[in-house]
Amino acid sequence: MHLTSPDQTIYVAGHRGLVGSAVVRRLRAAGYDRLLLRTRQELDLRNQAATEAFFDEHRPAFVVVAAARVGGILANDTYPADFIADNLAIELNVIQAAYRTGVRRLVFLGSSCIYPKHAPQPMREEHLLTGPLEPTNEWYAVAKIAGVKLCQAFRKQHGVDFLSLMPTNLYGPGDNFDLQTSHVLPALIRKFHEARREDPLPDEPVTLWGTGTPRREFLYSDDLADAVLFVLEQPEERLYEVAPDGMLNVGVGEDIAIRDLAALVREVVGSNSPIQYDATRPDGTPRKLMDVSRMRTLGWTARTPLRQGIEQTYAWYLRSLRTQSA
Ligand SMILES: NC(=O)c1ccc[n+]([C@@H]2O[C@H](COP(=O)([O-])OP(=O)(O)OC[C@H]3O[C@@H](n4cnc5c(N)ncnc54)[C@H](OP(=O)(O)O)[C@@H]3O)[C@@H](O)[C@H]2O)c1
Repeated sequence: MHLTSPDQTIYVAGHRGLVGSAVVRRLRAAGYDRLLLRTRQELDLRNQAATEAFFDEHRPAFVVVAAARVGGILANDTYPADFIADNLAIELNVIQAAYRTGVRRLVFLGSSCIYPKHAPQPMREEHLLTGPLEPTNEWYAVAKIAGVKLCQAFRKQHGVDFLSLMPTNLYGPGDNFDLQTSHVLPALIRKFHEARREDPLPDEPVTLWGTGTPRREFLYSDDLADAVLFVLEQPEERLYEVAPDGMLNVGVGEDIAIRDLAALVREVVGSNSPIQYDATRPDGTPRKLMDVSRMRTLGWTARTPLRQGIEQTYAWYLRSLRTQSA
C-alpha cells in the first residue's frame, strides 16, 4: 500500500548516512514529518530483540532500509566477515519485524554490485544471479542479494508490499571522505583538495588507483532520495506491473571513465595537479552501468547533472572542514 498522507509514520533506518540523511531531507521537504529516526547507538539493528521491541512499540506504517555496513574496495577486502554478517543481520531483523508488525510498504536499498561482474551492460534487473560476482566486494554483494530475496520471499509467501531499489554509485552531502574506507568520488575530491598549494607553488601530483579506464555511473544522493519518495507514493498495482520481481534499478543511465571523472573533479576543485595512476592497484569491475528503463516507465528520471552534483558535494565538504576546524 502506498504512502498517501503526511500523518503516516515512516521509519528511516540509517538516517544519518549518505542515503538516510538525503531521504530525511526529501521527506521533510515533501511535508512528511512523522519520521521515526534512531542512531545505531540508540538501536543496533544487528540486535534482533531490540529491533523487534522497537517495531512492537512504534509500529511504523512505512520503512526505508538505508542502514548497512558500507565501504569501498579496501574496507570490503579487510573486513569481509563484518560486511556479510552485519548486513545479513540488519536485513533479516528489520524485514522480519516489519512483516510481523504489519508495515504497509518497505523499501530495501540494495546496490548495483549485486549484478554479475561481467553482466551485459547496461545491467537489467533480470541479470540478478546470472553469473559470478566481482570478488573484491562479494561478501557485501551476497548480503545485499539476500536482502532482495528476503523481500521477494516475504511478498511471495505473505503478499506484503516489500520491494528493493538498486542504486548505482552514490555521492553527495554527508558522504564518507575517509581515504581508507570511502568510495572513489569523495576520495578524488579530498585528494585534489589536499594537493592544492598556495600560488605560485604548483599543486602536488595526485595518484589514483588502477588504470583510470573503468567506467562508472554516479547518482547524486538527493536524486536517489527523490526516487525513494516517488516509489513510496506509487500505487501498488502500477509498481508491480512494471516490476513484477519487486526490483527497481535507480541510476542516471550514463557512465564516465574514471580518468574523465578525475579530470572533472580536478576542474571543480580548481586544482592543476598532475594525475598519476598506480596500476598495481585493482580496477574492480570494468564497467557498471544500470538499465533504468523501469523507473523511466514509472515516470522517474534523475535531475542533477554530474558537474553540478560534484560542485554541491565539494561545497558541503568545505563547509564540513570549516565546522571541524571551528
Ligand atoms: N553509498 C553508495 O554509493 C551506495 C550505492 C548503492 C547502494 N547503497 C546502499 O544505500 C544504503 C545506505 O548506504 P550509505 O551510503 O548511506 O551508507 P552510510 O553513509 O555508511 O550510512 C549507513 C547508515 O547505517 C547505519 N548503521 C550501520 N550499521 C548499523 C547498525 N548495526 N544498526 C543501526 N544502524 C546502522 C549507520 O549509522 P550511524 O550513522 O549511527 O553510524 C549509518 O547511518 C546501503 O544499503 C547501501 O547498500 C549505497
